[in-house]
Amino acid sequence: DARQQGQVIALSAQAGRTSFYPGRPSDTLGYNGSYLGPTLRVHRGDEVKVAVTNRLSADTTVHWHGLLIPGELDGGPHQLIPPGTTWRPNLPVRQPAATLLYHSHVHGLTAEQVYSGLAGMLIVTDQEEQGLGLPSDYGVDDLPLLIQDRQFQDGRLVMPAGMMTAMQGRRGDTILVNGAPNPLAAVPNRLVRLRLVNGSNARIYDLSFSDGRGFHWIGTEGGLLERSVALRSLTLAPGQRAEILVDFADGRTVSLVTGPDANASMMGMMGSTGMMGGRSAAAGPTSTMTVLRFAPRAMANSGARTSAPDLLVPRVRPDPTKAVRRRRLVLNMGMGGMMGAGGGMTLTINGKPFDRGRVDERVRLGDVEIWEVSGQMMKHPIHIHGVHFDVLRRDGGRPDLLDQGARDTVLVKEPVELLIRFDQPASTAPFMYHCHVLEHEDNGMMGQFTVS
Ligand code: C2O
Ligand code: CU
Ligand code: CU
Repeated sequence: DARQQGQVIALSAQAGRTSFYPGRPSDTLGYNGSYLGPTLRVHRGDEVKVAVTNRLSADTTVHWHGLLIPGELDGGPHQLIPPGTTWRPNLPVRQPAATLLYHSHVHGLTAEQVYSGLAGMLIVTDQEEQGLGLPSDYGVDDLPLLIQDRQFQDGRLVMPAGMMTAMQGRRGDTILVNGAPNPLAAVPNRLVRLRLVNGSNARIYDLSFSDGRGFHWIGTEGGLLERSVALRSLTLAPGQRAEILVDFADGRTVSLVTGPDANASMMGMMGSTGMMGGRSAAAGPTSTMTVLRFAPRAMANSGARTSAPDLLVPRVRPDPTKAVRRRRLVLNMGMGGMMGAGGGMTLTINGKPFDRGRVDERVRLGDVEIWEVSGQMMKHPIHIHGVHFDVLRRDGGRPDLLDQGARDTVLVKEPVELLIRFDQPASTAPFMYHCHVLEHEDNGMMGQFTVS
């Protein structure tokens, strides 16, 4: 917990060794440690001073995913931090309470650096949220859960490589929560808030509890919903976040589990041998896996509410009739193009692979637009920097139940219409939009836009 009012939050990107299993050290990357980084807590209204030092031998960047700030502060591929240097952005926090993340975003190396550990959580708090009486005792009844799948061999982290990995993204046979395999959380036997972050490179989770218990969904990427939604399962794509309230009052041990990856059928079609390094994996993207076990026990009461509230935080979404423009993005996955290395699979948006020197779209500051996004061959988590948007329509009809709220990342295959107001300037440095399967992003499924 690095809330340091008025002080500088110092992050050091560094190489280290992490023993995920005793006596089996792996080479990893982390911020201020050997794997992942500290959870940063900031409050609406803060001007957060950050100093990021690159102690790696390669370039890096730190992107504040979900933070609504101008383009030159965003930490995307244009804010490179060369080895041995320090980047000092001042981040104005002017948005509702939400669960965000930060991660490396250096073009071509994002997937490898994040896989190795360059990611962390960023929590925005505000008074409105604090007034709701939600569980907020950090690490006790308010748990940040950064969920990642990773591939291990003899207890050591390995990085899958090859053609299949480039096409499907890296997946693994082991789920880590906050960097820990086989995690067990001791929780109070009452209502607990989970901040779920999908920090995987490619895996889509289908989360539920092992005993089928229900829970209340209260927040998306953009912050709290207007009303809580009773659910029994929740899909979480790479880059997405969800806050939920779960009741452990019955004191029974229970697990958070995930069903197969929503892209599993496509992976079966392509064959999974390359992905799993040639081994047939008992656990992996096509199987149901345990994410985290909970052991409830009696703990001193925090004074937080014991049941989920119906009403959360009112939110005014942009008026769709005020949209001045419609743009179309197609996330292409094509066979045998001329552009792909070796003439294989090409990953592009609207037929163009990412080019750092090309601005793909120019948006006027303050405009409302509708972006229609679709994806080929599999489900792709489209993420747009510098904005939170609403899903207006999905596949020509109403959005899904799980599409609601302010979002910054949603799954697309069938066309989805996103209603977006562009309130953050990006003139000196553009914002990115890309597939959050990090291997897709690195291999070209990314574009950039200015806002001015
Ligand atoms: Cu979480 Cu452009 O990324
Ligand atoms: Cu982002
Ligand atoms: Cu993709």
